[in-house]
Amino acid sequence: MKNTLYKALHESSSILKEYFQKDFLIESKDIVSNLVTEVDKRSEAKIIEIIRNEFPDHNILSEEIGALNAASDVKWIIDPIDGTINYAHGIPICCISIGVEVAGEIVMGGIYNPFGNELFFAEKGNGAFLNEKKIQVSGESSLAKSLLVTGFPYNTSTNPNKPAEVFTAIVNKDIPVRRLGSAALDICWTACGRFDGFWEYNLNAWDVAAGYIILTEAGGIVTDFNGGKYSVYNKEILASNGKIHNDILEVIKSVK
Ligand code: IPD
Ligand code: CA
Ligand code: CA
Repeated sequence: MKNTLYKALHESSSILKEYFQKDFLIESKDIVSNLVTEVDKRSEAKIIEIIRNEFPDHNILSEEIGALNAASDVKWIIDPIDGTINYAHGIPICCISIGVEVAGEIVMGGIYNPFGNELFFAEKGNGAFLNEKKIQVSGESSLAKSLLVTGFPYNTSTNPNKPAEVFTAIVNKDIPVRRLGSAALDICWTACGRFDGFWEYNLNAWDVAAGYIILTEAGGIVTDFNGGKYSVYNKEILASNGKIHNDILEVIKSVK
C-alpha cells in the first residue's frame, strides 16, 4: 500500500504544480468562503484512479466525491488539496493528504506539499518521516515558551464552540499562534517540532487522518477537547508534543 500511496501523492502533486498560479475554475460549496477548484477535482480523480487500479475493492472516503463503499475493511481517506483557499490565492501552503484505515484504525498516512518539496509519511509502529528522515515532536514543556498553530472553520460566525474565544484566551497569555490555512500541514509541522501544539474545531476525517498517524508516530499526543480518546471522525482535535497538552486543554476547557 505504501507504493500506491506514494504514487498517488506524486501524480496528484504534478496536477497541483501544473495549475498553480494559473487560471482555473473556482466554485463555492455550502458557504461562500468554502471553495472547491477544478484542481481539487482533478487531483482527487487521479488519486482515486491510482488506488482503484491497485485495490479495486478498497473503500474510499474523499472530500469532494464522498464515500465509495466496498466490502473491504480498508479505507483510503483522501484530501485532494488541503489548503484550497491558499491554493486558489497562489499561496504555496497546501498539500495532498492520504490516510489508510484498516479495521477502524489509521495505520498509514502520507502528506505532500509539492511547493515546499516536503513529504511526510508514517506507518503504525515504524515512526514518522519527513523526506525519509525520522522526525520527532518538540521537547518544549513550557506553554509560555511554545509556538502554537490553529485554524478557523468556515462557519465560525455560527459555530457554537467558540473557536475565536479560545484563540483570544491563548494570545492573551502572550503565546504566539500561527494560522497557516492547512490543517494537515499544521499537524505535520507539529510532528516535526516546528510547532509545539495545534488545535482546531470542526475538522473532517480527510483533514486529519494522515496527520493523526504522522503526529502520533512522531511521539505526539492527540485528544478531543476533554482530553478523551480521539478518533479522526471527531470534529475537534488537540494535537501536541504531549508535554504542553494539559496546559492547552485547560485553556480550551476554561472557554468551552
Ligand atoms: C481546510 C484547511 C484549513 C482549515 C479548514 C479546512 P480545505 O481544508 O485544512 O486549514 O482551517 O477547517 O476545511 O477546505 O482546504 O481542504
Ligand atoms: Ca482539508
Ligand atoms: Ca480539501
